[in-house]
Amino acid sequence: MEKVAKRSHLKQFSFMLIMIIELSLFLHSVSSQEIPSRKILKQDTNSNAVRLETSNPDTVIVDNGLVQVTFENPSGYLIGIKHGNLDNVLETRNKHSNRGYWDLVWGDNSTYDKMETEHFNVITQTDDLVEISFNKTWNSHDRNSAPLNIDKRFIVRRGVPGIYAYAILEREQNFPSAEMYQIRLAFKLLGDKFHYMALSDTRQRVMPTGVDRNTDRSQVLAFKEAVLLTNPINPDLRGEVDDKYQYSRENKDNKLHGWISDSDKEDRSAVGFWIITPSNEFIAGGPHKQELTSHVGPTALAMFSSTHYAGRDMDTYYEQGKHWKKVLGPVLIYLNSASTKDSDVRKTLWEDAKQQSSKEVASWPYNFIRSDDYPSAQGRRTVRGQLIVRDRYMKNKLMQAHSAFVGLAPPGEAGSWQENAKGYQFWTQTDRKGRFEINHVRPGDYNLYAWVHGFIGDFKLDLNITIKPGNKMELGTIVYDPPRNGPTLWEIGVPDRKAAEFFIPDPYPSLMNPICNAPEDRYRQYGLWDRYSDIYRHGDVVYTVGKSNHSKDWFFAHVLRHTGKNTREPTTWQIKFNLDNVNDTGNYTLQLALASATFAEIQVRFNDPYSLEHFSTRLIGSDNAIARHGIHGLYRLYSIVVPGYRFRKGQNTIFLTQTRDAGTFSGVMYDYIRLEGPAV
Ligand SMILES: *[C@@H]1O[C@H](CO)[C@@H](O)[C@H](O)[C@H]1NC(C)=O
Ligand SMILES: *[C@@H]1O[C@H](CO)[C@@H](O)[C@H](O)[C@H]1NC(C)=O
Ligand SMILES: *[C@@H]1O[C@H](CO)[C@@H](O)[C@H](O)[C@H]1NC(C)=O
Ligand SMILES: *[C@@H]1O[C@H](CO)[C@@H](O)[C@H](O)[C@H]1NC(C)=O
Ligand SMILES: *[C@@H]1O[C@H](CO)[C@@H](O)[C@H](O)[C@H]1NC(C)=O
Ligand SMILES: *[C@@H]1O[C@H](CO)[C@@H](O)[C@H](O)[C@H]1NC(C)=O
Repeated sequence: MEKVAKRSHLKQFSFMLIMIIELSLFLHSVSSQEIPSRKILKQDTNSNAVRLETSNPDTVIVDNGLVQVTFENPSGYLIGIKHGNLDNVLETRNKHSNRGYWDLVWGDNSTYDKMETEHFNVITQTDDLVEISFNKTWNSHDRNSAPLNIDKRFIVRRGVPGIYAYAILEREQNFPSAEMYQIRLAFKLLGDKFHYMALSDTRQRVMPTGVDRNTDRSQVLAFKEAVLLTNPINPDLRGEVDDKYQYSRENKDNKLHGWISDSDKEDRSAVGFWIITPSNEFIAGGPHKQELTSHVGPTALAMFSSTHYAGRDMDTYYEQGKHWKKVLGPVLIYLNSASTKDSDVRKTLWEDAKQQSSKEVASWPYNFIRSDDYPSAQGRRTVRGQLIVRDRYMKNKLMQAHSAFVGLAPPGEAGSWQENAKGYQFWTQTDRKGRFEINHVRPGDYNLYAWVHGFIGDFKLDLNITIKPGNKMELGTIVYDPPRNGPTLWEIGVPDRKAAEFFIPDPYPSLMNPICNAPEDRYRQYGLWDRYSDIYRHGDVVYTVGKSNHSKDWFFAHVLRHTGKNTREPTTWQIKFNLDNVNDTGNYTLQLALASATFAEIQVRFNDPYSLEHFSTRLIGSDNAIARHGIHGLYRLYSIVVPGYRFRKGQNTIFLTQTRDAGTFSGVMYDYIRLEGPAV
């Protein structure tokens, strides 16, 4: 096996175009469709002072006339949220610990911890705002709780029908090392009432109920999260698939999701329950990491950290000896209500929630948070610069990196941000000229990272950036030299860190979820991986450069082929291309960019499929993006040096073999492949 010149240690993914369009549609519809606010029932109590009620030692009640929130004391569980015509939007049949709560999964044995607290404190109490805290200090005798000090904060403001929630988590230096895989805030809503879920303008639907997922009403598919609804209570849903991973979103787009209740028979009003995430500075993994949103339960989640779509490569190990503290949130739990006399009550509630979400984004960072660990706007800083790309094989002139993603994230290698769960991240996109302005950066140590649509690799500025409170930091013009060793001979796909441009087969008609029907969501349908074995039953992908079309002839995932119910075989994809002449003494470079990998190994051979492999990725990946309907997981780039004597004048073939079988979901998604000639 010959050497790889460099394995640029990249990482990341994307979504740019679709998401830019989606974002602009979002902004457009928000501004162009002013919602007549009288439709929304805000009652006539907008000006009520916020009241705090602590006479019962077991509960704490906060009420502003629009929403009344009941907490269990001192656990900090949310046990009641009253709004509109609903005395409690939370599932009253559930125990107090299973309605509205923070939780985490930690340790070698994936211990589940409900983050129950021990003390209640009032942080602020005025007519305009009440901020309360439920906290606890870790006790080394408590083996079931993560080694973590926890301070759960809740804020109710005058005039806002909702609850701001955040948590300050801290590990003291002497706390034992521990992994923390997943941290979230979860809500279980009233199952009899909340049937309609909304994630975006197009991803909305009447959902199955929790009961519909029971074994007598559904059939488990390839993994327990995915079921086929065989006998749902609502017969319209029979024959559909439900899987919570179909409702994932990238962090950068996950600003709003939630549920709408059925209309009340008497007063015909409906209630919306929404999770608004005004910033993703505190969410693990950067702008493109995908996370769960809402799903059957009815459940609504604010995910702060997890290994979803990243797997074991996500850095979740917290060492003893290192102090760590992080503020997760605030997020806003927003409630609205409207009457069905209004012709489309769901649209009214969704549009109002969108407006509120825009309002929250615009007021970030909040000026009403009392924790010293949450800097206000004055305590933060703006970082500006301009990103230019230099790739002389593409263009003699320098190129402006328009719509590039640029971000500050904890110090590390290029691309390390996509695995970082511990620190804060601040991302923006450049304008047409490559200029960027990253606002509201918290004090701390960072590196500047970027990736540019249309170019491979990850950029990291060779500068340690320490942010202190203040005005602006000007970085000037920054040049990115993407990996490149010679002229492009051919390429497959678009360097954008995802596999969406490749062939995405039609789903099995018997295994569809209509929430994925929009063209841009087709890849979220269940079971597409199995279509490979149907379509390529007798032979694998053969891609002929100059003839084939990547959107028809390059399957979106390189998976194994089923040979029986539980047996599979490796698959070898071929790229055929012509070389008019070959430089025997020069080096060629195969740029192999992956959008995802799960227990896979890609071996690369040239012209002889039976030779010893020239290159292997070795066993890589556990991002599970194929099973979870992500169109990418973690980004990886391999720059494989190929000595000219490996090729011949005329027809050549590159063989890509996926050799590993850890089950149906072993495989990779390619982002982009390019063959470069020797340097000229
Ligand atoms: C994990 O579980 C094993 C087996 O029950 C036990 O021996 C071990 O101590 C546990 N580890 C931790 C960190 O709790
Ligand atoms: C919990 O609150 C008490 C009282 O305000 C405070 O003294 C203590 O430091 C807090 N602990 C944590 C872990 O926040
Ligand atoms: C940045 O900090 C790291 C870790 O302290 C150090 O190794 C590196 O040399 C620094 N880089 C620059 C450009 O100062
Ligand atoms: C490739 O196929 C797609 C999908 O059928 C089609 O829209 C596109 O025009 C084709 N491209 C070329 C170069 O033929
Ligand atoms: C072959 O490649 C080498 C190394 O890049 C270069 O020096 C040489 O000029 C090339 N030969 C031809 C005939 O292009
Ligand atoms: C080709 O690559 C090999 C291995 O990296 C290196 O030793 C050799 O010097 C390179 N040859 C040229 C002409 O660049």
